Amino acid sequence: MSSSFIIIGTSILALLLAGYFAQKYLPPPPPKVVGIDLGTTYSCIGMYHAVSGNVTILETQDGHKCIPSVVAFTEDGVLVGYKAVAQAEHNPFNTLYDAKRFIGKKFTDEELKEAQKQYAFKLQADPLGMVTFLIEVNGTQNAVAPEEVGYYIISELARAAERNLSARVKRVVMSVPAEFDDMQRNYTIKSGSLADLDVLRLINEPTAAAMAYGLHKKTSPHNILVVDLGGGTLDVSLLNVQGGMFLTQAMAGNNHLGGQDFNQRLMNHLLGVISSRYGLSLKDKEDIQGLRLKVEEAKLNLTSQQEVLISLTLHSLDNVVFSEKISRTQFEKLNADLFEKVLIPINRVLESTELLPEDVDEIVLVGGSTRIPKVIEMVSEHMGKRPNTHIDPELAVVTGVSVQAGILGGMWPLTVSAVELPSRVKKMRVH
Ligand SMILES: *[C@@H]1O[C@H](CO)[C@@H](O)[C@H](O)[C@H]1NC(C)=O
Ligand SMILES: *[C@@H]1O[C@H](CO)[C@@H](O)[C@H](O)[C@H]1NC(C)=O
Ligand SMILES: *[C@@H]1O[C@H](CO)[C@@H](O)[C@H](O)[C@H]1NC(C)=O
Ligand SMILES: *[C@@H]1O[C@H](CO)[C@@H](O)[C@H](O)[C@H]1NC(C)=O
Ligand SMILES: *[C@@H]1O[C@H](CO)[C@@H](O)[C@H](O)[C@H]1NC(C)=O
Repeated sequence: MSSSFIIIGTSILALLLAGYFAQKYLPPPPPKVVGIDLGTTYSCIGMYHAVSGNVTILETQDGHKCIPSVVAFTEDGVLVGYKAVAQAEHNPFNTLYDAKRFIGKKFTDEELKEAQKQYAFKLQADPLGMVTFLIEVNGTQNAVAPEEVGYYIISELARAAERNLSARVKRVVMSVPAEFDDMQRNYTIKSGSLADLDVLRLINEPTAAAMAYGLHKKTSPHNILVVDLGGGTLDVSLLNVQGGMFLTQAMAGNNHLGGQDFNQRLMNHLLGVISSRYGLSLKDKEDIQGLRLKVEEAKLNLTSQQEVLISLTLHSLDNVVFSEKISRTQFEKLNADLFEKVLIPINRVLESTELLPEDVDEIVLVGGSTRIPKVIEMVSEHMGKRPNTHIDPELAVVTGVSVQAGILGGMWPLTVSAVELPSRVKKMRVH
């Protein structure tokens, strides 16, 4: 009798040991589910690794972590990402971008007319107001739906992931803006289905960003402020999380504030310097484009340097070499009123949830423009605490989506799956 107990005991021990050694020494299983951030300007794919519990964001063939959300139709076929961007200038009517703005959304005739002004490609609405892009290649005209543009981008990313994993990618988790309604969510899922992928779940971008920082593991209630400042828009959300359950308490945003506006201020300043220095205003398109690129570079450099030197040859002004020093303080002064505007939606979400800055436990920054030191400083001062910043703000969403994908794929070490409670809050617009 006692010997049979010993035998059972020994076999249990053997099983435990086998499990332990398997975890320790066998290669971890490849990710079964991947995470995709299908963004307005850039899209990325990531995977969660069992055992180490960390996320890698896949580099595509040419070494970039994310690809531009751009798809071009050419006589040689369909191009995606950087390849599409490279030929955009020569093929403006068939190079599609910003498709996320149109996905699953109805447009009135008036809204469509407004939108058309911003794009070289042709927009067309069906009787229900659903938008498609009209392209003309090989002498024939074709309509391409926004979810088809999404399909090309997702396929490109999934193929890169398959090359990396040497395995088929069949299941994904994707992120969507918190404000997306059911129809926009359905069409986002359709993008994935067209790429032959099973979209297990959609999660809101602010929730994903919070998960990137492991905030889904908080057991006591936490209030999280997510500030997403990108190229052209600012979105602020207030989330409450407890035991893996996320609830969006409030959202506010400004659709006309972001990196492009900060660039424009610096651009105007430099154009002013040029016209007073040379007595001529800069009109040449190529020179202006050259200056624009320098401005973007200067803005990026000013996140790590106190001063930058902008220098370029102006062909339209007798090949004069224009150079001008710009300090971080100067850049901040030029944009002082715009940076101030970042606080407006933050205050709106605090007011509407009746929270004080000290009631917010964590601050998460998303979007390239949150790298600007002054923006971090202003948010810190306003809220009385430092935001989380150690994850690249442009990769926070894809990192969080990949964590969720890992959890749904049952990867070890297991964590509670994050769940989003349905929220009926509407985004408040501020200017
Ligand atoms: C992955 O996790 C391990 C162990 O936690 C860590 O040592 C390693 O640096 C991580 N790798 C990456 C690429 O982050
Ligand atoms: C145009 O025709 C060529 C040759 O038949 C083909 O390879 C290419 O994919 C076509 N382009 C598109 C966008 O269909
Ligand atoms: C897969 O991607 C990771 C992260 O970009 C990289 O470190 C690794 O070398 C890649 N592996 C293969 C086989 O391409
Ligand atoms: C979205 O899809 C679900 C499930 O297929 C369906 O029940 C729902 O009616 C759809 N909603 C809209 C607004 O299209
Ligand atoms: C930005 O930094 C890079 C690398 O240090 C440098 O090559 C470039 O000239 C800088 N550009 C500007 C406009 O500051």
